[in-house]
Amino acid sequence: MGLFSTSFVLLVVVALSAADGDDEFANYTITGRRFPDGFTFGVATAAYQIEGAWDADGKGEQVWDTFIHERPERVDDRSNGDVASDSYHRYEDDVRCMKEVGVDYYRFSIAWSRIIPDGDSETVSSKGIEYYTKLFKELKANGIKTMVTLYHWDLPTALEKKGGWLNPKIVEWFQMYALICYTFFGEYVDVWVTINEPKQICHTGYGNGAYAPGVVSPGVAEYVCARHVLLAHAGAWHMFDEQFRERLGSRNTIVIDSDWYEPATDSEADAEAAEVKRQFVHGMYAHPVFKGDWPQVMIDNVAKFSRLQGFNASRLPAFSEEEVRFVKGTYDFLALNHYTTYMVAAKEGLDFPAEVSWDADAGVDAYQKDTWQTAAVGWFKIVPWGFGKLLRWLKATYGDIEIVITENGVSDRTGTLRDQHRIDYFKAYMSHMLDAMYDGGVNVTAYTAWSIIDNFEWTQGFNAKLGMYYVNMSDPLRPRIAKDSSKYFANVISTRCLLDSCE
Ligand code: BGC
Repeated sequence: MGLFSTSFVLLVVVALSAADGDDEFANYTITGRRFPDGFTFGVATAAYQIEGAWDADGKGEQVWDTFIHERPERVDDRSNGDVASDSYHRYEDDVRCMKEVGVDYYRFSIAWSRIIPDGDSETVSSKGIEYYTKLFKELKANGIKTMVTLYHWDLPTALEKKGGWLNPKIVEWFQMYALICYTFFGEYVDVWVTINEPKQICHTGYGNGAYAPGVVSPGVAEYVCARHVLLAHAGAWHMFDEQFRERLGSRNTIVIDSDWYEPATDSEADAEAAEVKRQFVHGMYAHPVFKGDWPQVMIDNVAKFSRLQGFNASRLPAFSEEEVRFVKGTYDFLALNHYTTYMVAAKEGLDFPAEVSWDADAGVDAYQKDTWQTAAVGWFKIVPWGFGKLLRWLKATYGDIEIVITENGVSDRTGTLRDQHRIDYFKAYMSHMLDAMYDGGVNVTAYTAWSIIDNFEWTQGFNAKLGMYYVNMSDPLRPRIAKDSSKYFANVISTRCLLDSCE
């Protein structure tokens, strides 16, 4: 099948202005304002999505290996990350792409099971250390700074067998792993991210079970997971803060993903419903870190619904006062992954939901408009104005805080080199971000595009491609071929402008 085979081409057209029905945004024009001095640009990947070499050089098995090997049909095209973009062997090609684009930094993740194959022993794999050291050195030689994620969903299977994120011991296991990474790689890392997207780990991994490890326990295990993820993050952050920060001079934070939730109408009820949903999605992880404890609306809703559903206690496990203090303040800046937007309507006459789940506990209706443009992944609607609104909300909610965009990007099915839709997406999303910065005073200091190369997109497999470089997954050499978007992004970085010319 050829690269540009027409039978495969899915047209993804991005509306630079808003889609039908969104009158408020209908006449939006891309801003001609420049990115401020000091603003930096990066690209992101994650270990399982690019590395391949799933069992090479003593690497341990991790939950995604197990999840997909056991049930290949869980992935749309029955592909897996065994080889993926083969970055374990071709990391120099990745760095060459980044150099070509001219990025300031590379955000990538370390595979826990490459460093400690069984997750919690003190046996560190020298081959794993060697691989990342080579990558760090290559980046350094090319003048690219590093943002390193310790955990991007690939829990060693040996730990999952002991309960994974549901076992309170995960807090210690994670700290031990973090200690090893800080020790071996600290000198090369500019920014540490402890954990990527707790919502996906807990809600999708231990709630609806669509992602590894595939535990289906909505409304119960997903909350236990969330509590442990936050404690594990806080433990790793404190260790960094106390033992490494001063010596290494780097920074450390957690990455939280959030969609934007827009009230369906002007009614007070919908405005309130949208805010509740924001608290259940972003606040659930950010409130404990930035303000302390779960958001009050979560505490109240889950307690009330649990009681009415016949549970003898709230399904949301409480933090002790000491734990609240332990988690609060464990950030150096707010790191945000953002892709899409939902509309939210209040539920009429809701007594309590029959369904037991985190989703139902919010007690609202969230939906996307059919008129919004869709990328290759169905839920992935393209709504640039939602990004600007989310940024302004973050400032209003958490105060005048530094914000770094750690992921933003769009998928298609073919990996076409003429990816004008991706250029339009970046342009429109970054434009709304710049408006939020200039008009809303939101302190965004960096933008990270997902992703530099096509890679393994979880349960979408190779059906959803998000790279600025095309990778043919059936070519054993996995050459990286520049798409148009890589040239556009390179131009934005060098001119600091989204258009041909700026003010
Ligand atoms: C994840 C990435 C993923 C991207 C696009 C984010 O939720 O961190 O791993 O590839 O979204 O779906």
